[in-house]
Amino acid sequence: MRQVKTLGLLGTGVIGGGWAARALHYGIDVIAADVKPEMQAWIRGAVDNAESALSRLTFAPLPPKGKLTFTTDLLAMAKQADFIQENIPEQLELKQRVLADVSRVAPQDVVIASSTSGLMPTDLQKNMVAPERFLVAHPFNPVYLLPLVELVGGTKTSAAAIEAARRFFTYIGMHALHVRKEVPGHLTDRLQEAIWREILHLVNDGVATTGELDESIIYGPGLRWAGMGTNLIYHLAGGEPGMRHMLRQFGPCLKWPWTKLEAPELTEGLIDKMVDGTQAQAGGRSIRELERLRDDYLVDIQQVLRKYNLGAGATLRGVEKRLYDDAAARAGANNDVPLRLVETQVRPEWVDYNGHMTDSRYLQVFGDATDALFRRVGVDDAYRKSGRAMYTVESHVTHLNEAKALEGLFATTQLLSVDDKRVHLFHHLRRTRDNAVVATCEQIYLHVDTQASKASAMDTQVRSKLEAIRKSHADLATPEQTGRHVGAPRN
Ligand SMILES: NC(=O)c1ccc[n+]([C@@H]2O[C@H](COP(=O)([O-])OP(=O)(O)OC[C@H]3O[C@@H](n4cnc5c(N)ncnc54)[C@H](O)[C@@H]3O)[C@@H](O)[C@H]2O)c1
Repeated sequence: MRQVKTLGLLGTGVIGGGWAARALHYGIDVIAADVKPEMQAWIRGAVDNAESALSRLTFAPLPPKGKLTFTTDLLAMAKQADFIQENIPEQLELKQRVLADVSRVAPQDVVIASSTSGLMPTDLQKNMVAPERFLVAHPFNPVYLLPLVELVGGTKTSAAAIEAARRFFTYIGMHALHVRKEVPGHLTDRLQEAIWREILHLVNDGVATTGELDESIIYGPGLRWAGMGTNLIYHLAGGEPGMRHMLRQFGPCLKWPWTKLEAPELTEGLIDKMVDGTQAQAGGRSIRELERLRDDYLVDIQQVLRKYNLGAGATLRGVEKRLYDDAAARAGANNDVPLRLVETQVRPEWVDYNGHMTDSRYLQVFGDATDALFRRVGVDDAYRKSGRAMYTVESHVTHLNEAKALEGLFATTQLLSVDDKRVHLFHHLRRTRDNAVVATCEQIYLHVDTQASKASAMDTQVRSKLEAIRKSHADLATPEQTGRHVGAPRN
């Protein structure tokens, strides 16, 4: 299966828009195809809307954003894409027909996946050419923030297709869960439907409102679920003997049972109760407002989980490691003097009210350059785990020129001096189009024993690699901003 540089989307509604935002964010080009021409404006709006939350998810060095194009010619998309994700309405015959059409023109090493919430892959791949490259890849809304994607193969799906899909989705920051047996609803929707069915019963029987039922989740189980699933949580609830005790204690109620298996009839009365209830919960807030609130807390929750290396936070750490490794590999491949360690682009969300790159992003880009240098000489995750790290002691940024949205930039790094404990660096950030220096940054780093929180001598190999770089920079002129204080008049 081929390496994915261009993602083709079939159907650009809620889910297609979410896939587009996620893929573009991680530098993948997207060709979005939909039968309705008006979806072009819609998908561009959806991508823009996703950006404010997505841009806060990580500070790891992202590649330039992918390019979005739109077409109503599904087959033209299928000829150009390296991976095709189908997101058209949930109707078996429609999906079967469109997937078969697309499979006739898409090269056979192109994986074709369906976002279907509940249809079976064996049914969907029935009329396809090269059905072995087809699988279900079921995401969750908002696709650009929730990392879960369920991968389900049909009877004809090859292991290579599942593996290629897993690789691609991991690359764009997702957690690929391989569902080993196809069942209607896969795993997650089967579980979600069970809760949804009970909600409908409880509302229908007048036991509780939609708002009370949501309270029963968000103040309790919902908080636990983000870090540990029902099974591990129940294991803890059983005390020292764990799950065995839990089953002994609560097993009998499974026989009563508390829950009802059949869904209630969706009468007009029940529909009204559900709609009125959720409208009261929305309290006059629009869907867009609520989406923004949801997106903001989803970002923050993932950052908290990242700290504990749990669930979605572990996935975030995984993609950040990949982004830093890629940046270091790109940087490691050149021996320019001074070192050219970071290539980037001013992302639209980086600009301030003046339309220029905002202050904090300068420090981020200079930090990325320093990080790439340190990784190059061996100060990486393993080094930090051994209880040693480089701490920033001083940074002095001087702003010299403007950088507008989408401007290409690169950073060069000069090593001014190094001793056993200190590294003295100087970065220039330049515009790619005219080489103009946009900003400079002088930094001093201290090597620290992180257990003792004290300066300590660095590893001899790290020291000698830094020394070799310093020697290669010895003939470079000392930048005029070196050692400058803040340029305010002194009394
Ligand atoms: N909405 C969710 O929460 C969610 C979550 C996970 C998976 N899914 C699955 O994703 C799929 C899409 O759902 P959605 O919510 O984005 O639907 P949607 O109605 O928002 O979007 C469907 C899009 O498909 C387009 N379309 C219709 N026929 C087409 C055709 N023949 N060729 C190309 N485009 C066509 C429509 O114009 C529309 O833009 C479904 O299979 C659904 O089960 C949905």
